Formats: sequence, C-alpha cells, structure tokens
Amino acid sequence: MGQNITRKIIASHLVEGEMTPGKEIALRIDQTLTQDATGTMAYLEFEAIGIPSVRTELSVSYVDHNTLQVGFENADDHRFLQSAAAKFGVKFSRMGNGICHQVHLERFGVPGKTLLGSDSHTPTSGGLGMLAIGAGGLDVATAMAGYPFYVKMPQVVNIRLHGKPAPWVAAKDIILEVLRRLTVKGGVGKVMEYTGSGIAYLSVPERATITNMGAELGATSSIFPSDDVTARFLAAQDRAGDFVELLPDPDAQYDEVIDIQLDELEPLIALPHMPDNVVKIADVAGQKVDQVFIGSCTNSSYTDLMRVAAILKGKTVHPQVSLVIAPGSRQVLVSLAENGALADLVAAGARILECACGPCVGVGQSPCSAGMSLRTSNRNFEGRSGTVDAKICLVSCEAAAAAALTGKITDPRDLGEPIDIPMPEKFPVNDRMIIAPPDNRGELELVMGPNIKPLPVASPLPGEIKGEVLLKVGDNITTDHIMPAGAKILALRSNIPAISMHAFERVDATFAQRALDAGGGIIVGGLNYGQGSSREHAALAPLYLGIKAVIAKSFARIHMQNLVNFGLLPLTFANEEDYDDIEPGDVLLIEDARQRLSDNNVKVRNVTRDKLYPVKHSLSDRQIEILLAGGLLKFVKEKI
Ligand code: F3S
Repeated sequence: MGQNITRKIIASHLVEGEMTPGKEIALRIDQTLTQDATGTMAYLEFEAIGIPSVRTELSVSYVDHNTLQVGFENADDHRFLQSAAAKFGVKFSRMGNGICHQVHLERFGVPGKTLLGSDSHTPTSGGLGMLAIGAGGLDVATAMAGYPFYVKMPQVVNIRLHGKPAPWVAAKDIILEVLRRLTVKGGVGKVMEYTGSGIAYLSVPERATITNMGAELGATSSIFPSDDVTARFLAAQDRAGDFVELLPDPDAQYDEVIDIQLDELEPLIALPHMPDNVVKIADVAGQKVDQVFIGSCTNSSYTDLMRVAAILKGKTVHPQVSLVIAPGSRQVLVSLAENGALADLVAAGARILECACGPCVGVGQSPCSAGMSLRTSNRNFEGRSGTVDAKICLVSCEAAAAAALTGKITDPRDLGEPIDIPMPEKFPVNDRMIIAPPDNRGELELVMGPNIKPLPVASPLPGEIKGEVLLKVGDNITTDHIMPAGAKILALRSNIPAISMHAFERVDATFAQRALDAGGGIIVGGLNYGQGSSREHAALAPLYLGIKAVIAKSFARIHMQNLVNFGLLPLTFANEEDYDDIEPGDVLLIEDARQRLSDNNVKVRNVTRDKLYPVKHSLSDRQIEILLAGGLLKFVKEKI
C-alpha cells in the first residue's frame, strides 16, 4: 500500500505506538520553536528538568508577540529568554527579527523533519514539507529535553488542488474555501495533506498561508510535498543543502479525499466572528471599512507585500481608512526596502509597523469602536483585536489592498489585470539578528529580573489527600474563568506567584488568598470543567495555591492533561448527584490514593458530613505514572 507524506514522516519518527488513527503514538522531535508569550514558561520548565542543553537538532526562541515595551515586564522577559537561549543551546531570534513562523520557514524549516512549537500556528512550516505541530509549553520543554511528543495518530485527509488559480484568487482564498467547507471543527484529529496539479502554482510562502490556517480547522497539522518549488525556495534562502524531495507514493492511501478546482474559485472573505464564516467578497462588496491590517504569520511574506505595493503604487490610501502593515520578517522588510516597494507603500499612506505579531494579537492598532477592520491574519474572534464591538473580516492581501484604496469591501477583480510577482532567485539573507548560543554555556547564568519567578513544582502524589473544599463551581467553567487573560495579566505570565492571585477572580475574588491561607485544598466542579484554551496557567496557578485535587462531573480533555502534567489529581464523580451533597468548606479525605488510583477504585470521604463518594478517572497508565511522580517534569526527569 502506497504511503502518503504524513505517514512517511511519522513512520520515520515513531518511538512508540501503532499508526492506527486515534491511538496514542510517541514521535521523536527534531526541531522546536517557542515565542515569548509561551517561551518564558517553557524555558523555566526546561530548567526544572535539569539537563544542561537541549537535545533536539535545533531549537529556536523567538520574540514576536509582546514587543511593545510599555512596562519593565516584557523587557525582563526578553532578557530572560535571551539568557536561557544562550545557556541551553537555543538560537535566539531577537525582537524585530520577525514572526516566529515566517522566520522559521525562511531560515530553519527542513522538509521531512518534525517541528514542535509552543504556538498553535506552528504548522506553517508544513508549507515546505515538515510535520509541524503546535503544543503547550511543557510539551515543548520536554521535547527539548529529548523526550518524545505524545499525540493521537491522526487521520490523513488528502486535499487535491486542481488547475491554475483563477485571476485574483490567492492562497488565502484556497484555505478560506477549505474552512467554508469543513468548518472550524473539520480538522480535529487530522492532518491535511495537499497534492494535485494546482500546488505547482503555489510558492512556499503561499503554501504556508494554507498550512498556517489549518490551525483554524482544528487540524493536528497541514503539509505540502517537498518538490521543485521547495527546492527553489530553499536555494533562494541559501539553503539548497537542506532540500530533500518528499512526495506521496503514486498509489498513496488517505482516510478522506477532498477536491478543489482552483480555476472555479472566487475571492473570499471570512465575516465576523469566525474564520469559517466565509462568503464570496462579491456578495458583501460595498460595506464601509475603517481599518486595514496587512501582516501576521498568515500573510506577510515577500510576495504578499510586493503584491500590495504593486496595487498601491502611485495611489493614495482612502482618507477614512487606517492602513497598517507589519512585514513578517526583517528579510521581507529589507527586500522591500532594497527594491523600492517600501517607498511605494509609504508614499501611498501605509503605516509600517515592526516585524512582529502586533495587531494580530491585540498589541496595538485596535480598531475604532464598532469599526470594520479587514485583516490578512487568521483569527477574527470577538474582542481579539482589543475593541469589543469591532467587526473583523479575514481576506487576502490583494483584497485588503483594494479596500485600503476604496474605503469599502472591494472585489480585487475590480482592480483590473492581475499582478504577477516572481519569487526572487536570492533573498537578502542576513542572520545577524539570530544569536547562536556560545560555547561556554556551562558558565552562563539565567538573567531573572523581578518579573521572572521560579516555577512551582508538584510533589509526588501523597498516599493521603486531605483538604477543605475551597471552591465549588458549576458547569462549563472555562480556562478563562480559572486564569483570566488580558494585557495586565499576560505580562505576569512568567511570574506565577503574582499571576496566581488572579485565579478565579471573576468567580470568587477571595479564592486565591483563601487558598494560600489554608495551605491549599480541593476544588469541586460541574460538567466540562476547564473547557477553552490549552492555557497552562489554569493548572499552574492552582498548583501554586496548593490545590491538590479537582473533583468534577467531567473535564475538558486538554485541561485534564494540563492538570496531570502539573501533578494535580483530576477525579470525576461516579454518581453525579454526589456533587450536590458537597458544600464549600467541607473537608474531604482520599485515603490510599496512590494504590487506589492505579486500581481505579478511589473513594472520597466527606469528613464533615460522614459520607463516602466513589469517584473514577479516565487516565492512561502513562498519565497515572506522571501523577504518581508529581507531574510531567519529574516524570521526564526520571526517564532521562
Ligand atoms: Fe503571531 Fe498572530 Fe501568528 S499572534 S504567531 S501573527 S496568529
């Protein structure tokens, strides 16, 4: 049976498990990347593992999310990240060098390798034939320590792109079409593998636009073959030696096949507030636009911005529109500066921002109240832009540029003849903003300013767990309830003692102090406890506050994994009505916890009410071992 690309890479990196979709497998990780919003925690976690250097082929630490330094906190984080990179053998991509995924594609991605990144858009590097997966910081820290990455074996979906894209149809329109068809849940547990005659018309950065937004499908990853197009891109980056051909076998098997005729596509737009709320631009053209943002890890490559420059050349941005452009990397910006396109953009009225995430992550340039903002980024969730009532639409660079000129949503086909931007034969390669780790690493110290605090580490699971019910919450408690976000709290992400004081503050503002005063305790939850993001701090803060166990009616999957990773015991009621019996302040006791956990026969005694509640868990043997060891860090330490 012929192999597809995904299975070829998995087979060559398989450490444990069977390649049966849905079954847990362990993968060897060749490369890792972190960004500053997740990296501080990942390197504190790596330090706690206690090995001197990373054991990957390559690890890179990027600073791209919080580059605005309005207080000392972000600057402290950047200093810490730089010192951690030097000490642990990690390359450090300095502030202003660009967005992690764009720079990784340009300078480090290698076809056929595995990449694990502490950012959900890590699959961007699938554009040059890598198996690139996003994960939590602790997973990346353990991968840096040489421990494999555990994930469910994905199904592989073949998306066949047929023919040449119709005029003014961009790579963005292709992924918007996939989102339109499959929705934001359509990729869960799957890798999207692109093939077909149409891929020959897509450059590596265009392919990366498509793999980038596979994250919006919920996909494990997305990938393109490594072919002649890939070879030319790598050669233009002075990296011809990194090229390896990687194609599916002619009779490759897939779990599902989807066909898209590129010559039949039209320019598309994702309307507020979901990336899969996709319609034809022609159907909504004419609506007033207040802001246009061109940038992000989705659409800020050389060809993207050259097309924008060609559209804007000699024209002027509409008086009611604020046009902001953030080039994806310093290499892109230098290219535009050298060939004069930057002058065309500035002359037309574009405001050039730093090469960073910027407006994509709500760092600056929030739209006006109730404003309409057309963006080339990948997410248009309500409030993400920093303006609660703003309407964010996602479009291609061409459609964004067209709207910047007209002041309204505009079908780019109205611009006339399409623009052809050839890929340069050589990019202006200059890695001076990427600092390689020195040789004398053993002597180096981590620089920890006041915003960097040590990581709390759990103890091995005790035989007896006793504690007061400090909080009883209802159904569907999200990670936002447990550990709120927002600029003020985000800046404390490397300061667990400070950030922990915000835990559950929207539910019960007294919780954190009560937990500290009581020396810890137990939380009781309803259904779907911990739903939402993969936010590690939703487990780290309770750990810091001394929480020993969470007993709920049910858990959201990722949060339960995070509780296990940080050594907090997640238990579910065998009889849901026992939830009603427990009141805040009751004292609960779990005897013989270690043995009973392994036997899945745990009982919780309500000492206050003299009752006994049977509880259960759905933990794998590996997860039980992690809990017994006192969390993933300790578990990995014992294995290494
Ligand atoms: Fe940055 Fe936005 Fe991408 S925050 S990594 S540009 S999704």
